[in-house]
Amino acid sequence: MEIVIVPTPKDGGRIAADIVCGAMENGAKMLGLATGSSPLHTYQELIRRHRESGVSFAAMSAYLLDEYVSLTSDQPQSYAHTIRAELVDHIDIDPARVFSPDGGAEDPNEAARRYDATIAENGPIDVQILGIGLNGHIGFNEPSSSLASRTRVKTLTGRTRADNARFFTESAEVPHHVITQGLGTISDARHLVLVADGARKASAVRAAVEGPVSAFCPASVLQLHPHVTVIVDEAAADELELAEFYRYTTEHKPASQGY
Ligand code: F6R
Repeated sequence: MEIVIVPTPKDGGRIAADIVCGAMENGAKMLGLATGSSPLHTYQELIRRHRESGVSFAAMSAYLLDEYVSLTSDQPQSYAHTIRAELVDHIDIDPARVFSPDGGAEDPNEAARRYDATIAENGPIDVQILGIGLNGHIGFNEPSSSLASRTRVKTLTGRTRADNARFFTESAEVPHHVITQGLGTISDARHLVLVADGARKASAVRAAVEGPVSAFCPASVLQLHPHVTVIVDEAAADELELAEFYRYTTEHKPASQGY
């Protein structure tokens, strides 16, 4: 696992965009996308490179991590709608090749199984962008999620519903259930890139990278993956015991070694 501490979230977005663009240059065809605030700088940087440097996403397909049960893709709070507004509508990826779990499905359990099978058939995902919840969730795998879990329906904690209420007119509107890629599904991706910023994320980041591997902190599953980059700003790195060592390794990274 490589932990990169950056001065600002914008710097983090540049590094994550470097990883995505580098993978595409090396033939990557599948991106895994998170929604929420954490990847916004990454998406803005990818949009900028598309507009100003002609970076093309025309050969790519993309898979979202999760979706609210009961929201259809045309509803503004759905993650399918959000990712169109934040990224897809501003680059040249074919929108028909941007996939998300079907939150509006009559049978969400079946929709979850179908989504997992689609990723397995077409995968692996080359680069998976991740954010982290205050309780250590990735995707919507809340604490107690099996580290081997596949895409399925999960119940959100009250804390996650409260955190996400900012995207809804009323907090009561935040759905209780989601379809999320499982921790096993996420771990099938070739390269996991977790982006976190702000002091609120500091203890979750510490638990994820320096705590025990445990379903109590779902993001700790990253410690079992062979290719992980964690990009954190100074505030989110504040509780890392080995912060100095991570800075040192970044500074002394062998020239031949990319992300
Ligand atoms: C959303 C997702 C979640 C978020 C996490 C952090 O697709 O996968 O795990 O990444 O809830 O959200 P923000 O970035 O809004 O703090």
